[in-house]
Amino acid sequence: MKAWILTKTSKYWKENKRSLVKILHPLAHIGSVIPFAVDLLDFWQNNLGANPILEITHRTGRTALTLLLISLSVSPLRLLLNWPQINKLRRPIGLYASAYAAIHFGIFIILDFNLQWGYIFQEILNRKFILFGFSAGVILLLLAVTSLKVFLKKLGKRWKKLHRFVYAAGFLAALHFILAVKPGVLRPWYYAAIMLILLSFRLPQVQSWAKERV
Ligand code: HEM
Repeated sequence: MKAWILTKTSKYWKENKRSLVKILHPLAHIGSVIPFAVDLLDFWQNNLGANPILEITHRTGRTALTLLLISLSVSPLRLLLNWPQINKLRRPIGLYASAYAAIHFGIFIILDFNLQWGYIFQEILNRKFILFGFSAGVILLLLAVTSLKVFLKKLGKRWKKLHRFVYAAGFLAALHFILAVKPGVLRPWYYAAIMLILLSFRLPQVQSWAKERV
């Protein structure tokens, strides 16, 4: 009975995994835009609490990190489920993560610091958590720009190497979150734990373990 169920499920999975990506693709776009729409609505309705700038900074930061985690989970899912088609979702979700990071940074430099570059650079250099966030942001921006098709052709094999820096961005962003909150707050540690699990899929041992399972 168990074998019959497994065979049926695996046949169903093989036949439908391509179509599932076709459904997930628009959902990825809709799901990524929703947090921004909610933020705009809350801003419009004065629904951002006593410190709206800090609240919107937190929200955009958390959305950027969540989307980064989702985009980094594409490769492990591809390996574990033998699902090459899921790769199509990585680029749009990664680009949304970069866009939220850019908005997060924009809020910091415009609303927090009124474009006073001297103070902005002082903050980046003197506060470790800002430096880590800034470094992650620069990497994400670079990857977003080079994900344009022109660069894909121009960079050839180097493109793949360059885009491995997304893991460094993930690590730095998780560290930025840990240091941004008061000691004892657990939430950033959950993000960091998921990030570490996803990063571990870069290890050849973990990759061969995952390949053996399928
Ligand atoms: C680009 C430069 C960046 C700057 C200047 C920056 C700045 C900040 C600031 C000022 C805060 C608020 C800290 C506080 O509570 O006082 C913050 C929080 C945060 N940032 Fe960034 N950040 C940057 C990049 C990033 C990136 C790239 C990510 C994720 C991909 C990120 C994710 C977060 C998260 C998750 C929080 C905490 C949210 C919370 O407490 O709920 N930041 N950042």
